[in-house]
Amino acid sequence: MRYTFVIMPRVLLLGLIICIIQTQPVQADTPLIPDNEACLTCHINPDLTVTFADDSTISGHVSRTGYNNSVHGAEAMTCGGCHPDHADYPHPELKTTDSRSFALELNQACLDCHPDQDRHNQDSNHARARAEGNQDAAVCVDCHGAHNIRLLSESRVEIARTCQQCHATIYDEYSQSAHSKALVEEDNQDVPTCVDCHGAHIMEEPHTTQFRLKSPSQCATCHADEELMAKYGVSTNVFDSYVADFHGTTLVLFEKQSPDAVINKAVCYDCHGAHAIRAVDDPEATVIKENLLETCQKCHPDATSNFPTSWTSHFQPTFDQQPLVALVELFYTILIPSVLGLMGVFVVTDAGRRLVNRAKNRTNKDIS
Ligand code: HEC
Ligand code: HEC
Ligand code: HEC
Ligand code: HEC
Ligand code: HEC
Ligand code: HEC
Ligand code: HEC
Ligand code: HEC
Ligand code: HEC
Repeated sequence: MRYTFVIMPRVLLLGLIICIIQTQPVQADTPLIPDNEACLTCHINPDLTVTFADDSTISGHVSRTGYNNSVHGAEAMTCGGCHPDHADYPHPELKTTDSRSFALELNQACLDCHPDQDRHNQDSNHARARAEGNQDAAVCVDCHGAHNIRLLSESRVEIARTCQQCHATIYDEYSQSAHSKALVEEDNQDVPTCVDCHGAHIMEEPHTTQFRLKSPSQCATCHADEELMAKYGVSTNVFDSYVADFHGTTLVLFEKQSPDAVINKAVCYDCHGAHAIRAVDDPEATVIKENLLETCQKCHPDATSNFPTSWTSHFQPTFDQQPLVALVELFYTILIPSVLGLMGVFVVTDAGRRLVNRAKNRTNKDIS
């Protein structure tokens, strides 16, 4: 009796508790990395600070959970992997006098283990800016962090926020765009984030002619993709129509023949903007009817209000919208083949007649 009414319920209750504990998500900071625990006895303290000779300070706190869940924590890498000279306390005297040079010095550790990214990164605007003496330009730890490193490629929003730390104005512009709205508000992964246009490690200077010439094909990676654009009801005609018009045709010629020449022909971002690319029906879009003249005037300063209509935009001219242009186009589509066709017929019949005449002449001569 005692077993059924007293012990049994307790056993069941205990079993239930164990079940609940078991189904709880695995504690984020397990398994422990034993070698790191000695460091963490002090560095887990949120109030620990590191003071530099210039009196600037940084927090010396390291989160166990953050580290153990990082790409390196997952590999059970120890603190000593990046801090080989901190095994004992007191630590050796600091070699650097301010927090920025401290970060730059410790950043060297990343380069030894990730030589590919190091090599690629030397081809970035940031490496160039640093070579010119701008120490604020991003290094590995600025974008990836030191202890809480996660895979950046897994979140395009995170990527934009990473760049935002230092390029806040551009991020604000970008956040006005149709691309960013889709990314941030709808978690849409089909739209470009900063690195789709600039790259993360290999990064071209954005003000060169090459960058300009290449930019339409960058937009085309998505905007010429029928399947992708069909999802959003956006026309893919934009790239072909662009290449076919006077801006694009000249540009394509330039790209092939003189890629270094300075070029002022309009590319996609001259009309749509580079960062604040709005939906074409957004009242603030640079390409909406009300703002289009101003957009053209950047390069056609004498343009008047009927100037934009001289361009048939991305689409085949229609009788509704550009009756005259459509008529001219129709005229030429009929006229040119007709003229060429008639000329062909004329040449053939003419040649035939001459042959016949020549043959006739010869027989006449033979007879006489
Ligand atoms: C007894 C406490 C203690 C232990 C154990 C300890 N640290 Fe520290 N650490 C500190 C304090 C305090 C500072 C702040 C600067 C100072 O006073 O030296 C610091 C600073 C640092 C710094 C910043 C650079 C510097 O030298 O100031 C690094 C990096 C560091 N510790 C890494 C480690 C690593 C890695 C371990 C384990 C192998 C470790 N620490 C173990 C207390 C400790
Ligand atoms: C993958 C390399 C790497 C590993 C592993 C690593 N650190 Fe660091 N650590 C760095 C870098 C780089 C910095 C400089 C970051 C900065 O200042 O922006 C740094 C800075 C520090 C600092 C100075 C305060 C700060 O956050 O800038 C402390 C303290 C520190 N590390 C302790 C530790 C401890 C404790 C561990 C192990 C739990 C550890 N580190 C593991 C790379 C690493
Ligand atoms: C002692 C060698 C070592 C050091 C130092 C080191 N890493 Fe790593 N890192 C690794 C290993 C090992 C991996 C996991 C294997 C892999 O995926 O490459 C890794 C993974 C990564 C990843 C994820 C890569 C992926 O595709 O999974 C990133 C990002 C990264 N490290 C950045 C850094 C940064 C930034 C630093 C400097 C603060 C740094 N690493 C320092 C060895 C190191
Ligand atoms: C300007 C910011 C920036 C700098 C500087 C930078 N990275 Fe990255 N890194 C990124 C971004 C963003 C990604 C994700 C790329 C993608 O999805 O195309 C990435 C990807 C990586 C990866 C592949 C794993 C992942 O997160 O997708 C590794 C490894 C890596 N970086 C290491 C480094 C190292 C080492 C350095 C220094 C030599 C460095 N990075 C410098 C932004 C940066
Ligand atoms: C730690 C700060 C920092 C971070 C983070 C950072 N940048 Fe930069 N970036 C700079 C600095 C400083 C320069 C050089 C000064 C300048 O031209 O604005 C620069 C230059 C650039 C340039 C060249 C600008 C020009 O006019 O030539 C581009 C493009 C760029 N960054 C893109 C990015 C992207 C994309 C990311 C994110 C993946 C990023 N940056 C993250 C600081 C940063
Ligand atoms: C759809 C492609 C695209 C995306 C997405 C994009 N950019 Fe750009 N970015 C460009 C183009 C094109 C230029 C050159 C603009 C020009 O010369 O007027 C540029 C220029 C820049 C410059 C130099 C600006 C200057 O005024 O000197 C920086 C810095 C930059 N971008 C950073 C970023 C950052 C940070 C993000 C993400 C928040 C981002 N870009 C997203 C296409 C893009
Ligand atoms: C001379 C200015 C100009 C250039 C250059 C230009 N566009 Fe446009 N774009 C417009 C105008 C105006 C509209 C809105 C009217 C229309 O739909 O034609 C538009 C519309 C669009 C649309 C919306 C289509 C839809 O289905 O609603 C996309 C996408 C687009 N452009 C992308 C591009 C791309 C990509 C390039 C470069 C290959 C480019 N544009 C070059 C002016 C331009
Ligand atoms: C990584 C793919 C990708 C790249 C690169 C890209 N776009 Fe887009 N773009 C999209 C997608 C997807 C949408 C539709 C978003 C939505 O409607 O939610 C879009 C929307 C647009 C729109 C708004 C169309 C409308 O609804 O009115 C314009 C304009 C546009 N893009 C122009 C450009 C230009 C110009 C470039 C190059 C500077 C570019 N895009 C680069 C994927 C891309
Ligand atoms: C970035 C500068 C730039 C912008 C913006 C621009 N254009 Fe042009 N456009 C040019 C250049 C340069 C030429 C000369 C092309 C050539 O000779 O091959 C040209 C040529 C033309 C022509 C051919 C006739 C002529 O005047 O030579 C028309 C029509 C035209 N653009 C319309 C427009 C319209 C409409 C807009 C606004 C929607 C616009 N353009 C925006 C630079 C631009």
